[in-house]
Amino acid sequence: VDDFIYPLFIEEGENIETEIVSMPGIKRFSLDKISKELDEIVSLNIPAVLLFGIPSKKDDEGTETWNDNGIMQQAIRFIKKNYPSLYVITDVCFCEYTSHGHCGIIHDNDVDNDATLVNIAKQVISHAKAGVDMVAPSGMMDGTIDMIRQSLDNTGFSNLPIMAYSVKYASAFYGPFRDAADSAPSLGDRKTYQMDPANRIEALKEAALDVAEGADILMVKPALSYLDIIRELKDIHDLPLAAYNVSGEYAMLKAAAQNGWIDGDKVMMEKLISMKRAGADIILTYHAK
Ligand code: PBG
Repeated sequence: VDDFIYPLFIEEGENIETEIVSMPGIKRFSLDKISKELDEIVSLNIPAVLLFGIPSKKDDEGTETWNDNGIMQQAIRFIKKNYPSLYVITDVCFCEYTSHGHCGIIHDNDVDNDATLVNIAKQVISHAKAGVDMVAPSGMMDGTIDMIRQSLDNTGFSNLPIMAYSVKYASAFYGPFRDAADSAPSLGDRKTYQMDPANRIEALKEAALDVAEGADILMVKPALSYLDIIRELKDIHDLPLAAYNVSGEYAMLKAAAQNGWIDGDKVMMEKLISMKRAGADIILTYHAK
């Protein structure tokens, strides 16, 4: 259990406790309804949570991401105050916050990498001021880790670590998450910034860049179809390695188990163990509870 990170979807508003249909057992909560969930997480000794914010208003740039009173910042403060033993990690991205659902600023029908970096800096500094324990940038913009490391160092947060979504494939396994987080792109896809599933060499390159830029933990995502990449990175780099057991992987298992077609618990243990065997030190999973 020490190796688990549990993702949490936190929605701005009140009285919200909405089941995510394609992810049985996973809900979106507003902060006034989340204490029971946090009590349970703490009582199960799950050490860490990964927060996703779902704001009540979106715009072109996702400006709510750096609002010091935004839903993510409120959530960080709430959890650190009431559950100080819980390690709080934030997913640093824009797709839940932009009206178009892309992970950055759109210029000429494509995401503008370098303009987005400037906003990433504002976002992480705001999370840092709210008291986050670690940031996890997931937008796959080039130069993200370097930008975050410098921004945090320059604002007095030189001890705040970064978990890099280093190797994040453009995967159909994220389908249920996009419903959960309201983050499906309204035009096009994420193939200009997320990776081609057929490409192995680029995974090595992306991870090496993140190491050089100052990442503290590397991540591979999704997990199950990419166990070879996990093993390969584990053999090369001496940083802790995380595997993200994503929403579609969870949904497939739950659906088959609910139909009685597989033994859900046994298959769950087998797949989580396969991630450890491949070399994952940390597993981000909706199964953690
Ligand atoms: C982006 C983000 C995504 C996930 C984590 N962070 C979605 C995406 O890239 O489309 C997917 C997680 C999952 O499927 O469980 N903020």
